[in-house]
Amino acid sequence: MEKVNFYGKKVLITGASTGIGKALSHEFAKKGAHLALGCIPEEEKLLSEWAKELESRYSIKTWVFPIDLTEEDGPERLFQEVTEKVGDIYALVNNAGTVAYGKFWEIPLGPQAKTIQLNFIVPTKLMHLFLPGMVKRGDGVIYNTSSVSALQPTPFHTVYGATKAAVQSLSQGVRTELRGTGVTICTLNPPYTNTRLLKIQGFPEKLRWYSISGLKTPEWIAQKAIKAFEKKRFMYVPGLWAKFLHIFLIRFSPRKLVDLVAYYGLQGKDKK
Ligand SMILES: NC(=O)c1ccc[n+]([C@@H]2O[C@H](COP(=O)([O-])OP(=O)(O)OC[C@H]3O[C@@H](n4cnc5c(N)ncnc54)[C@H](OP(=O)(O)O)[C@@H]3O)[C@@H](O)[C@H]2O)c1
Repeated sequence: MEKVNFYGKKVLITGASTGIGKALSHEFAKKGAHLALGCIPEEEKLLSEWAKELESRYSIKTWVFPIDLTEEDGPERLFQEVTEKVGDIYALVNNAGTVAYGKFWEIPLGPQAKTIQLNFIVPTKLMHLFLPGMVKRGDGVIYNTSSVSALQPTPFHTVYGATKAAVQSLSQGVRTELRGTGVTICTLNPPYTNTRLLKIQGFPEKLRWYSISGLKTPEWIAQKAIKAFEKKRFMYVPGLWAKFLHIFLIRFSPRKLVDLVAYYGLQGKDKK
């Protein structure tokens, strides 16, 4: 398959003010893509400054959309505003995400419902809004930020893992429906990465799991991801060890063993 040339193409990234989304925006900018960047309203200033920096360093155009995507009409507003101000986009990167940590029955339902909303409902809605135009034009890609959590049990952030498994299934199913349209859907499945997500209230400072999997930087993830995006890799797990661990070892090891390792590994280092 021919590599995508992002130069001059318009790319929309949600959750672009920090972490993996910000690092991805940098990689797309280096490739010369024009960027529509989303963030929560509180981060508008921060994201606008970053967007200006990208414009001056890479001679690209940027637009900032400070919209809380968990609001009822958030995805629709983002679609309308992007369509009005930017026009048709070539790629949508569904990246905004959140997590709630703790035992499923002990964490209040609110943060878990928000996780389902932002990690699964929002990408579903945005795909539903942007796909018809892409299919009509016969061109476009959706990159969904899933996770290695889609490929293993994730005790103590089980709803998070469930949303990522749902995104994985959604992406694969819709991609199959898109056969022959010129449009496709890819997933990025990062291992644990040192971002604000892992500092959300209640999340342990260090998981035992990091001794097995390591902890990546968002920049490292994004530098690898952009190459996979160019090749429209259907499912991309960055890093050889992560690929072996999540695509092979976890898949083919006895279920009881995987559950046990996940149970101990996904607790804080201080926990018994
Ligand atoms: N960190 C990991 O270990 C890891 C591993 C695999 C996959 N991922 C996935 O990677 C993606 C990016 O996460 P990250 O690790 O880079 O964490 P992050 O730094 O916390 O980034 C999450 C992004 O989502 C945005 N966001 C949060 N709530 C939002 C809302 N209501 N409306 C719109 N945007 C909202 C945030 O925007 P603001 O900055 O404006 O709040 C932020 O830019 C997520 O989908 C996550 O599940 C992360």
